Formats: sequence, structure tokens, C-alpha cells
Amino acid sequence: MKTACLEVANTPFSPAILAWYDQHGRKSLPWHHSVSAYGVWVSEIMLQQTQVATVIPYYQRFMAQFPDVESLANAELDAVLHQWSGLGYYARGRNLHKAAQLIRDEHGGRFPTQFEALLKLPGIGRSTAGAILAFSTGTRHVILDGNVKRVLCRYHAVDGWPGRAAVAKQLWQLADQHTPQTRIAEYTQAIMDFGASCCTRHNPCCESCPLQSQCVAHQQGRAVQYPTSKPRKKLPVRAADLLVLVNKQGEVLLQQRPATGIWGGLWSLPELPEGALISDWCHHRLGYQVEQMVVGNVVRHTFSHFHLDISPFYLRVAAVANVVMESGLGVWYNSQNPDQRGLAAPIQRLIKQIPPQIKERIL
Ligand code: ADE
Ligand code: SF4
Repeated sequence: MKTACLEVANTPFSPAILAWYDQHGRKSLPWHHSVSAYGVWVSEIMLQQTQVATVIPYYQRFMAQFPDVESLANAELDAVLHQWSGLGYYARGRNLHKAAQLIRDEHGGRFPTQFEALLKLPGIGRSTAGAILAFSTGTRHVILDGNVKRVLCRYHAVDGWPGRAAVAKQLWQLADQHTPQTRIAEYTQAIMDFGASCCTRHNPCCESCPLQSQCVAHQQGRAVQYPTSKPRKKLPVRAADLLVLVNKQGEVLLQQRPATGIWGGLWSLPELPEGALISDWCHHRLGYQVEQMVVGNVVRHTFSHFHLDISPFYLRVAAVANVVMESGLGVWYNSQNPDQRGLAAPIQRLIKQIPPQIKERIL
């Protein structure tokens, strides 16, 4: 694994971010004037998954109805959720209410200012606890929300999905290294605002960015490739032997898939059961004698939950004199003059690729 450079103590990161904030940052949000840690907490929970502009009116109404821990703790959950309606992620509202009751019952109604005590409250993780304390007490705490992760991943070209514990550990170290000793509340707001409005997910403002000269991802021209996205789950591979039976008229035998499952209700090729022998199965099951066989290349078709490796077997067949194909086993399909049937795209491709040796006797 690539190691991120940790020698950052003297980089201009935090001065640059603070200078940017002095010029561009939001300085008069309602919770900035909230002297209570309670108000900061409410705003941070609302801001976890919702944008600032949406949060403002909700925050004001919420604080008017529940101005302190006590009033929130004593409220009915329904009243709290009613105030929350429209913000989404209602677990946040339920946790806020539950946490208020814990503060009432276990902290004498005083909002805790110890990091460890905050972390124990429902809905408050390490970054939110840090932000609440940085904003409400001005003491030095480190934050690492989604915006900050993105900035740090780019600035240091940190490879790997930040959801991985090892990557998150690196990012917390970097976040700590960059957090200044003074102007903590402003720095905390600054780095959040910077991530939300300059170093954005899809359109980072690299050309006007104060970190540009030191930003490794920008220098590599790869800013938007960071942070590394969550690795896709490796899909399981299934295999299917599909038979392309071609008769003397050049028609192909199709069977209808069951209504549920892959290609539900569509017309497909007969699938050879596990362990069956082709000539035997065609003879006894379908009533056709295999006269010529060409093995096609394996083609992979990917569904949402698995890869299907299809082995096509192209078979020129003739009816067996005294064996008649059971009705319901399929229909003969003329690909030169197709009727209205739904065929899965990979099946259509297989039919288009019938080799000449199989078709050659066609009159
Ligand atoms: N996201 C979380 N907390 C925030 C804050 N204080 N300002 C802007 N966005 C935020
Ligand atoms: Fe983000 Fe671009 Fe600035 Fe790097 S240079 S921190 S990618 S905005």
C-alpha cells in the first residue's frame, strides 16, 4: 500500500484554509450565534445529511419549540418528529430525543462537554462530537466528515476507500496534523465550508484553490478520482451450456423462460442440464438427432448479482423419425424473418453468430 506523507506540520494547509474562509466562508449562520452547546448539537445533527440552506428554517423552528435540553427531553417523540418532517433520515430525530432524555436523566440536564461522554450519546460519532466541542467550547478537536475526507484524500492522494478502517486511520492522522492550535471553531467551519463549496465531489475549484500548489491529486490531474470509491463486490460466476439447435429450414429452437428469475418470460435457448450429454439429451428429450456440432466461444453476461458464462453449442439437427418433440418444449424461430418475440440481447447475439458449417445445408 502507498503511504501518505505525514510530514505536514509546516505546510500552509490550515493558514490557507483560514484565509480562504476569511474571504469566502459563511459567517452568519444561525448556529454561529448560538452560545449553547445544545444549539450547536441540534445544528450539527441536522447538517449531517442535509445542506445548510435547507437546515436553516428547520433549525429556527426547532429551537423555537425546543429551546433547551429539558424541553426536548420532555417533549413527545411525535412532536419532535413532526418538526423533523421533510428533513429525512428520521433516526436522527429519534436519536436527538433519546439523547436529550439521557442528558436529563444522567447528566443532570447539562449538555456534556467531555468528548467521551458525547460519544456515548446516540447519533453522535467521533467527528460530530469533535465538531460540537470545537464550535461550542473552542477547544482543539479534530473532525473528519465526508467533506473533510474528500479534501484530505485529494490533497495527499490517499488511495483506498475511506470506509476501510486502515484508510480511515490514515485520514484521522492527517486531519489531526492539519488542525491548528488556535482559531479552532473557525478552522472547523472553514474546512467544512471549503469541502462543501470549493473542493466539491464533481467540480472542484482547483484553479482558484488556495491549496492548489500542494495538492497531489491536482498535480496528478486526478482530483475527481479521489476519494477512491467503495470496491464493488466480486460477483459470483455461474456457467450455462446453451444449445443453438438449427433445423433444415435454418430455424432455431427457442424456449420460453419461466416468468420469474433471469430473463423472466423472455424467449431463450434450451439449457443443457448439469451432467447431461448433448446428443443423448437432444435425442431423448427433444426428438432431434445432432448431425454436426460447433462449439462457440464462451461469452460473459453480467447480471446485477452474478456473471453468467455462456458456452454456446451450435447444433445442426434432424428430426428423429419415431420420436416427436413434446409440445411445449419450444418453438422454431426464423431469424431471417423474426416474429414478435422478446429475446434477451445475448441470446439474439448468439443466434446472429451461427457458424456457416451449421447453416450451410440450408436451402
Ligand atoms: N456539515 C456539518 N456541520 C456543518 C457546519 N457546521 N456547517 C456546514 N456544513 C456542515
Ligand atoms: Fe481540492 Fe482541487 Fe484544491 Fe486539490 S486543488 S484541494 S482537488 S480544489
